[in-house]
Amino acid sequence: MDQPVVAVGVDPPTDLIPGRVLVTGGAGFIGSHVVARLMLMGSQVRVLDNFSTGRIENLADAAYGGLTEADVVSGDIRTPEGVEVIHQWQPDVVVHLAAQPSVPAARRSPLYDADVNVFGTVNVLDACARGGVRLVINAASSAIFGSVPAHDLPVREDYPIAPVSPYGVSKAAGVHYLDWYGRQHGLPYTSMVFGNVYGPRQEGSDCGVVSLMADALLGGRQVVIYDDGTQTRDFIHVSDVAEAIAVACHHPGVGMVNISSGRQTSVNEVYDTVREASGVGNAARYEPLPWPGEVRNMALDTRKARELLGWYPKIGFTEGVRMTVRDARRRQAGSQILSPVRALERAVSG
Ligand SMILES: NC(=O)c1ccc[n+]([C@@H]2O[C@H](COP(=O)([O-])OP(=O)(O)OC[C@H]3O[C@@H](n4cnc5c(N)ncnc54)[C@H](O)[C@@H]3O)[C@@H](O)[C@H]2O)c1
Repeated sequence: MDQPVVAVGVDPPTDLIPGRVLVTGGAGFIGSHVVARLMLMGSQVRVLDNFSTGRIENLADAAYGGLTEADVVSGDIRTPEGVEVIHQWQPDVVVHLAAQPSVPAARRSPLYDADVNVFGTVNVLDACARGGVRLVINAASSAIFGSVPAHDLPVREDYPIAPVSPYGVSKAAGVHYLDWYGRQHGLPYTSMVFGNVYGPRQEGSDCGVVSLMADALLGGRQVVIYDDGTQTRDFIHVSDVAEAIAVACHHPGVGMVNISSGRQTSVNEVYDTVREASGVGNAARYEPLPWPGEVRNMALDTRKARELLGWYPKIGFTEGVRMTVRDARRRQAGSQILSPVRALERAVSG
């Protein structure tokens, strides 16, 4: 992993250390890592989540760090009652992660995607502007840039926004609304453009490619790779993302900022790395892309994050994949350990 040539340590003003941080989507994959990281920082943290994909078990680390039941607000970002916590609790910083996060799911249902990612985001931003929130940190995605020619990679923050999927469109709308609330209402923001985030606790049929491959290989199923596997993405470990958000909480808003590794990794390379980490050697099956217009290559330029936040990624891809495979193994072993218990319960009750 690249290290900065010169140390860019940026000391934040001490009056920007946040007391109260609200994390929307805090029970999800990225959110739960962020909540645990913010608890370590000594902030008071509350979670707002409707548990559509998030799970209370994801908050076990945060509970060890002191998060209590009272800190978890069950609510929907699309409703006035859902965002009421912003007016009542008056957080210094709102980390907005709640979303419909899947590219394939947005293709299947653009309406639901827009409802959560556009309408829900505006509802959160409006409450933040009225509630005097000091800083909003928003989760955007490299999908906002669409198909970028190879010679323009890694892509900088000022590159034209031109999404090619409904998910990219809804995430781009969030970025534009932040910009409008910033100019019109003076709401300070940091809009983080993430690459493909991977790591422990990522699960579900539409989740990231690293976890999908790990789950398939450890479960004895063949991995399907669409196209020829030479298409690339920019992968970033979830702990590095959580660190970036913790660091950004201590700074004034920096606008749009890329948070990723800056490197392209092909799907074939991902597969080789997961295979090596899992010790399972099946060959993948190659199939044509089930939808047209898929982004071919992606990498994000991360110099702005280094310069303004002093942040750079610390977890190398091989190391990060090993952590993810260990987590997938633990989850699969967990369900195998529990199944005899369930069978025993059935036997006892029946
Ligand atoms: N995972 C990635 O690779 C990636 C890449 C770029 C950007 N992002 C963005 O990061 C954020 C977090 O993604 P994730 O991968 O952790 O997904 P996730 O599904 O694990 O987390 C999303 C959380 O939001 C909650 N949520 C969904 N709809 C809600 C609603 N209407 N009201 C309240 N809560 C709601 C879910 O229950 C879940 O806990 C999202 O904004 C996503 O678009 C993720």
